Amino acid sequence: MDPALFVRNNTEIIRPPLVPEIGLHLATQMTPIWQATEESLARGAVPPPYWAFAWAGGQALARYLLDHPETVAGREVLDIGSGSGIVAIAAAKAGASRVVAAEIDPFAAAAIALNAALNGVSVTVETRDLLNRAAAGWGVALAGDICYEEPMSSRAMTLLRRIAARGRLALLGDPGRAYLPRSGLVERARYEVPTTRELEDREAREGVVWQVLPE
Ligand SMILES: C[S@@+](CC[C@H](N)C(=O)[O-])C[C@H]1O[C@@H](n2cnc3c(N)ncnc32)[C@H](O)[C@@H]1O
Repeated sequence: MDPALFVRNNTEIIRPPLVPEIGLHLATQMTPIWQATEESLARGAVPPPYWAFAWAGGQALARYLLDHPETVAGREVLDIGSGSGIVAIAAAKAGASRVVAAEIDPFAAAAIALNAALNGVSVTVETRDLLNRAAAGWGVALAGDICYEEPMSSRAMTLLRRIAARGRLALLGDPGRAYLPRSGLVERARYEVPTTRELEDREAREGVVWQVLPE
């Protein structure tokens, strides 16, 4: 199935509670979109539809960028593990000169394109896996809620630390996921992020915006 059609058919336009300035094509419930994703892609390995939710770490980081636009204004920004594109879109709204959303799931890529258009901003989606690539070329690196599984988490953290080592700002939004590093992070902000029992087994999570220090 055409990914853009799938996104449109299985989502509603929702404003995430911590970032109501941004509208996104999101799922209203978890089970139906998980099932629909598996059915539509039954022949291949199916990445879970992470793009259909605005995760607590991404909401915290997006909130921070909208409240502190000087963080990204006029800079070239990389958003790693972009999902719905919530962080990339916030960076574009905050005045980044160029935003690249790195996302390997083609359904997420379609969602990011639809969501960027919905918000009237320009975001370039890169579906090649950038995590082993050079750290040069980025003014700011961002990642929302990427510490939920290995090896993605450590690969993404390595790239963030390499970008930081070049003297660039690297920020991570995280609500206390299992693979959050225990060192090399400095807290910049902390938000109470409303969530759902269905998604997170609780009604709110603490989303922390961390500055990632060099390796
Ligand atoms: C939990 S989601 C977070 C999405 C978004 N940043 C947010 O906070 O709502 C993590 C995303 O990372 C993506 N991902 C996994 N491995 C990746 C890789 N090697 N490069 C880019 N994205 C990747 C997944 O497809 C998924 O959409």
